[in-house]
Amino acid sequence: MDSFKITGPSKISGTVEISGSKNAALPIMVATIARPGVYEVSNVPDLRDTRTMIKLIEIIGGIISSSNNTLKIDTRSCNNPNAPYDLVKTMRASFYVLGPLLSRFQKASVSLPGGCAWGPRPVDFHLKAFEQMGAEVVLKNGYIQATGKLSGTDIIFKVSSVGATGNVLMGCFNLNSQLRIKNAAMEPEITDLCHFLVKMGLKIDGIGTKNLIIYPNDSKSSINIKHTIIPDRIEAGTFIAATVITKSRLTLKNIIISDIKKVLDSFIDIGLKILDSTENSMTIDFSGEIKKLNVTTNVFPGFPTDMQPQWTSVMCLSNGESMMEDTIYQDRFSHIPELIRLGANIKLNKNVVTINGVDKLKAADVMCTDLRAGAALILAALAAEGITNVSRIYHVDRGYENFESKLKGLGVEISRISS
Ligand code: EPZ
Repeated sequence: MDSFKITGPSKISGTVEISGSKNAALPIMVATIARPGVYEVSNVPDLRDTRTMIKLIEIIGGIISSSNNTLKIDTRSCNNPNAPYDLVKTMRASFYVLGPLLSRFQKASVSLPGGCAWGPRPVDFHLKAFEQMGAEVVLKNGYIQATGKLSGTDIIFKVSSVGATGNVLMGCFNLNSQLRIKNAAMEPEITDLCHFLVKMGLKIDGIGTKNLIIYPNDSKSSINIKHTIIPDRIEAGTFIAATVITKSRLTLKNIIISDIKKVLDSFIDIGLKILDSTENSMTIDFSGEIKKLNVTTNVFPGFPTDMQPQWTSVMCLSNGESMMEDTIYQDRFSHIPELIRLGANIKLNKNVVTINGVDKLKAADVMCTDLRAGAALILAALAAEGITNVSRIYHVDRGYENFESKLKGLGVEISRISS
């Protein structure tokens, strides 16, 4: 298992190009199964998770070629509505395949996803929605066996769910009646998925809002479409956090500022300056002390849970006591003990973290436990005095494209140790 060796404290400088969004690419890739066709999807980040999704689409019968972050996906010969455990257990997002398989084949056998490092992550919202749409859903030997032609109905999500919203949307091909989703997720990745599904032939009203209407459609014939994935707002947020924690100046390219507004505003509240910005880039600068700020995560456009660990790392070096409350996941805190090993002063009580800023962090051996926890440890290692070894980097490889070469390009002393 690979690890990163990072020498701190480090400054960063220069320009970073933000990659395509992992959480937009994954549903869009698998949506291609829902309708036979030839799809050219560009700005797809080359990650462990996107490579896993390619394997899943090939198991279903798709033919994929990739070069320079562009995938050519031919799903005209898909013929196998089964997603196996040994693949689904490695990536929860594989469960997105259920909607497309029901659209295309009116049947599916999809392994229940495993939990992940921070605990069980249920899929009950997905299953209840498909049952409401007319599917018969049974659990057999750890597999969800779903059968039936899906129909329009009213789906009301009591809790906003990115995955369940996306899965239901991808189940809406060949509907004979209107489907309405209330309390749909509004994350930019769902909006990008909706734009892709419209190109695939769906008619969707309310895109970008909590209330979506999908109209009856006949989507059996083969199509040919192109799409470019939006930039990754969480990668952008992570590099903003790197700029703050190292008190540096950075230019970010390929960003959508409206997608990161809450995160950017929070960093501005603690002292970040925007020196220059264009439609898809900005130059930011941080100097002086990191001001403390309480943050509570929320669904979009609130502060994203996927930036909670990275923000916590920054607050470890703030000028006082701050609270971080995660209202999306009650137990996404496996990075806390590792930050404490680096000298952070943090207390955890249920889903609320109290952080007392310290003057400095000190290098230590730490271990990634999930994707964003790994990002948080790398950020802390940039500021820590000495050489920090961050192990189990495979977690980070799931969601950050070329992370060490991007950091090296900004002046960080980082190397990947393969073992
Ligand atoms: C997506 O996960 C993202 N993953 C996650 O990003 C992100 O943290 C999450 O949305 C929240 O924004 C992808 O897009 C691939 P949810 P998802 O359904 O869809 C509960 C990353 O770091 N819930 O919006 O699984 C759930 O436990 C990853 O890139 C149910 O109870 O999240 C959570 O508490 C990590 N039953 C809340 O809802 C369900 O059936 C929101 O989850 C589904 C979800």
